[in-house]
Amino acid sequence: MDWTAIGTLNDIPPLGARTVETPLGQVAVFRTAEDEVFALINKCPHKGGPLSEGIVSGRKVACPLHNWVIDLNSGEAVAPDNGCTTVVPVKIEDGLLYLAPPLPPVAMATGPSLPREGGGV
Ligand code: FES
Repeated sequence: MDWTAIGTLNDIPPLGARTVETPLGQVAVFRTAEDEVFALINKCPHKGGPLSEGIVSGRKVACPLHNWVIDLNSGEAVAPDNGCTTVVPVKIEDGLLYLAPPLPPVAMATGPSLPREGGGV
């Protein structure tokens, strides 16, 4: 997998997000209260709202437009809503954040959990 350095964990406020432009579109990189990081294509599965502007709570983000709640790990909307946004592999190594191209949905559904290296995750 081709990993691309995008900055440091401290570039993202706790319970916040920053966006990264990629050839595949804008990616939202989220930081939880526990300093975990997750990355999703920055489009809500409902009507494309900017998830990076949503409220992070636990491992979920609430879309700022109509309040759908999206699971940061799977990219899936929490019931009763139904939809999925693309997950982008992200890892921390020595305090640096790296992104990889999004995996195909089938691989995300059945593949192993994302590699997480370095401390604090
Ligand atoms: S666009 Fe996200 S909830 Fe409607």
